[in-house]
Amino acid sequence: MPGERRLEYLRAIGIDLWVRRGRGAVEAPPTGDMAAPAAEIEARWDALRAAVLECTRCPLHATRTQGVLGVGPKRADWLVIGEAPGAEEDRRGEPFVGAAGQLLDAMLRAIGLDRRTNVYIANVLKSRPPGNRDPKPEEVAACLPYLVEQIALLQPKIMLAVGRIAAQNLLGTDVPLGRLRGRVHRFGELNTPLVVTYHPAYLLRTPGDKRKAWEDLKFARSVYQQLTQGTATDGNRS
Ligand code: URA
Repeated sequence: MPGERRLEYLRAIGIDLWVRRGRGAVEAPPTGDMAAPAAEIEARWDALRAAVLECTRCPLHATRTQGVLGVGPKRADWLVIGEAPGAEEDRRGEPFVGAAGQLLDAMLRAIGLDRRTNVYIANVLKSRPPGNRDPKPEEVAACLPYLVEQIALLQPKIMLAVGRIAAQNLLGTDVPLGRLRGRVHRFGELNTPLVVTYHPAYLLRTPGDKRKAWEDLKFARSVYQQLTQGTATDGNRS
């Protein structure tokens, strides 16, 4: 991205200084069995979408407008995972389309990502909790299989968990978010690298932490670059 445009995005997310941090070597994840035929993959996506739209596994189905599966290219290298749809997402059927979504888009653009071209965005919960309360453990337990199937289908090269709820549930820990930042975690059977940062809704309330979020984004970008080193990539798999 040209320097001026990046600066513009950084300004949009409230950051005007570049901060360097140390980088550890990162191994590429194992590729696993990627040989499922395209038709089978499409059929699984269709089944997943239908299951989410029709889901009654937890009481949230009674109060939501619709299930929100996710958005983005299915061959994106990057997967961003948030908490749950809010009011606007529940109405429009797409993750992160409200105020927090605008900030998330600016954060992603600052590292060259865009939900239309090279990042897939999803949530831990596919249904909106009333009043945007925190998800209950039993709701997460009911919904997590959808995300696991989504990840199996996407096979992203890197995952970015935004916020405590996503980070703790994906990593199966109650370690505070601040202590999960700044290192590469691994997720699932494919050992997908997972980096943690703040939730954009939190950053809207706490703009002083945007600088730390920018450090996390640069860290995630460096992890991704190390994974794809030597491979020309636009963030999508060829
Ligand atoms: N917050 C989230 O975690 N996800 C959304 O989709 C919207 C707001």
